[in-house]
Amino acid sequence: MFYGDRMRVLGLVFSARERGNCYYCVNYCLEKFRVHGFETQLINAYDYEIKPCSHCNYECFSKELESREERCPIKDDLPKIYDLMEKADILIFGIPCYAGHVSGLYRAFSERMASLGWSKIEKILLNKLKGFIVVGNLSAWGDLTLHEVLVDFYNAKIPPEALLLQTLEYGRISLKGDLIEESIVKKKLEWLVNRLIKKYEQLV
Ligand SMILES: Cc1cc2nc3c(=O)[nH]c(=O)nc-3n(C[C@H](O)[C@H](O)[C@H](O)COP(=O)(O)O)c2cc1C
Repeated sequence: MFYGDRMRVLGLVFSARERGNCYYCVNYCLEKFRVHGFETQLINAYDYEIKPCSHCNYECFSKELESREERCPIKDDLPKIYDLMEKADILIFGIPCYAGHVSGLYRAFSERMASLGWSKIEKILLNKLKGFIVVGNLSAWGDLTLHEVLVDFYNAKIPPEALLLQTLEYGRISLKGDLIEESIVKKKLEWLVNRLIKKYEQLV
């Protein structure tokens, strides 16, 4: 939980496994944010139940469909995650490329936001300062995955910062999850953190 009154950074990791490139890269960024005096928290999707849109009656569109408000019937941990996003000043995401797309966990997180309504989506995501780390190789649709993430923000008031990390660039195998051992990767992540901090200072 966020406890103090310092500026807050929330890291969100959307890999299917507990610890891999996304986890270590986001965690490294959070360490750097702490050095700059930020309070941080890491949400690892691995530890949460996140369900895709399913077994519903489009309650999120009930106002348009039936002129009345109905709630999303899905019970899982996403409301807890959305609450933490609301409390954070900066969001930093770690998203793996799976079969040329964002992971199913990120997709579920993203599509379920429809249940929140537009003003809440703006509040917790679109109007927040945010950075995306996508892990995937250019030769295996990593670029399409990055695009898939960024296209959601084409018109956002605060455009996201983004990094595509390719294990092949460093002669590593992505499944090993050891990209963070590469000094250039650390430099790239530091660049991302510094950019977000600079933008943050310009905003406040
Ligand atoms: C089911 C699955 C599908 C994958 N598909 C791709 C792919 O299409 N392109 C790619 O560059 N890497 C692909 N990968 C490799 C992952 O992107 C890579 O292992 C990345 O490091 C995963 O993040 P993690 O290390 O945080 O788990 C795939 C991995 C898995 C498990």
